[in-house]
Amino acid sequence: MITEHDIKINVKLPEKVSREMDVFYNPQMVSNRNISVTLLNAIGKKKLNVALPLAGSGIRALRFLKEVKYIEHLFVNDFKEQFSDAFKDSLKFNNIKSLKVQVFNEDALTFLFKQKKLDYIDVDPFGSPNPFLPSAVQSISKGGVLAITATDTAALTGTYPKVTQRKYWARNIKNYMMHEIGLRILIRKVQLQGIQFDKALIPILSYHKDHYFRVYFISEKGKEKCDALLNQHQYFLYNPKTLEFKISKYNVEKESDYIGPLWIGNLKDQKLVDKMCKMNMFSEDQKFLEIIRDEKDVVGFYDLDVFGSKYKLHTPNMADTLKKLKGTRTHFSLVGVKTRKSLKEVVGLLKFMKQLTPEQKHIIVDKGTEAPGSGKLLHNKEKGIYQCAQCGADLFSSDTKFDSGSGWPSFCDAKNVDLHKDKSLGMVRTEVVCKKCGGHLGHLFDDGPKPTGKRYCINSGALEFEKK
Ligand SMILES: C[S@@+](CC[C@H](N)C(=O)[O-])C[C@H]1O[C@@H](n2cnc3c(N)ncnc32)[C@H](O)[C@@H]1O
Ligand SMILES: [Zn+2]
Repeated sequence: MITEHDIKINVKLPEKVSREMDVFYNPQMVSNRNISVTLLNAIGKKKLNVALPLAGSGIRALRFLKEVKYIEHLFVNDFKEQFSDAFKDSLKFNNIKSLKVQVFNEDALTFLFKQKKLDYIDVDPFGSPNPFLPSAVQSISKGGVLAITATDTAALTGTYPKVTQRKYWARNIKNYMMHEIGLRILIRKVQLQGIQFDKALIPILSYHKDHYFRVYFISEKGKEKCDALLNQHQYFLYNPKTLEFKISKYNVEKESDYIGPLWIGNLKDQKLVDKMCKMNMFSEDQKFLEIIRDEKDVVGFYDLDVFGSKYKLHTPNMADTLKKLKGTRTHFSLVGVKTRKSLKEVVGLLKFMKQLTPEQKHIIVDKGTEAPGSGKLLHNKEKGIYQCAQCGADLFSSDTKFDSGSGWPSFCDAKNVDLHKDKSLGMVRTEVVCKKCGGHLGHLFDDGPKPTGKRYCINSGALEFEKK
């Protein structure tokens, strides 16, 4: 006996879940079912006609009957011989005396073609949803919701590019974004099925989790809406050398691999996901839903590990990085960041975020001062250039360095610095900061040697020295 929330079903779980099971139940898909309950309740549409053409053990149907408000009819089907009896037993067992339910035991295609005006269809197959798409798309009503699961991850993520091409009519290449790309390729494929019948299928929630892809579409009618969808079927150009990526109407660009066509529009309806996060009753899925809720709806993302090793950046912590890049996390990767910034901007900003030692942080970020006479570059007489320890900008030439006797490295000239009035510690001084990253360096005084008369009094800890 298996219990899932308030429902009990009579299934013996084998060591490995497989399609050979008499009655199919997959405990790994609890979250998939939880989210579908939350979504239907959040949509809140009254008098729902719901169809589950690939019902398996019927667990989803039983849960819908207990947990989803406003179901008017539920049509439940599976072609396995034992299905009808097993499902009817489960209804009794769970004390669900429902006139709302009709049980079928036939091929999903026959089943779907018989039903009319379905407000919700859940296509939840083993592997690819392909065989069921044309009939599911035709049976969904205007304003209805079509839910699609795909578990053929290898085909969608480009493990076998020829398979992706044959099954999903697009090109995918394995890279760190393959799950997002696979999801977008799947969305386009489903949309094409609708478009041929003037049905515009608009994603309201799409994600990748564990071993599967899941998309909920709302079905709208009209040629213009379909044309608008087609305009958002474009290519994704990816340069594996620089890691640069962009969307394009065309599939050629020097140095770039092309991927797609794929859906470049939104993956979710923001208002719906906001509502789902408020209404969700399943604590185990709350965090996942919130990541999706907060995720910027842009195509592609930057993976901090992949970028770090490519551009030799120290990977800073996630919270700081998100702030700097004005980005959000993504559910596609633990170390991924979604932002509207370009690759150049991202690399530039991450370079600013080299991991500083506590002493460097005390000076550069907290505007502290090192003890006089203590700095490692105070007595340095070598020829070279002094750079910002935080971002690497060139700041002072060794030709301008002099011994001021103050205990701090002193220069009579500078480049790439900004000056600010500093009224701290009861004095009025001129603060010197790095122009590129804004890091604190030291102070400027007017008692330097000729010809400039300036003394840039700089902390060793804010500098790195590059020998000529
Ligand atoms: C992944 S399981 C469904 C799991 C179920 N929706 C759940 O949430 O537990 C897929 C089911 O589809 C059924 N199936 C596969 N092809 C079918 C077809 N052409 N017609 C009807 N049922 C089919 C299988 O017997 C299996 O029970
Ligand atoms: Zn700097």
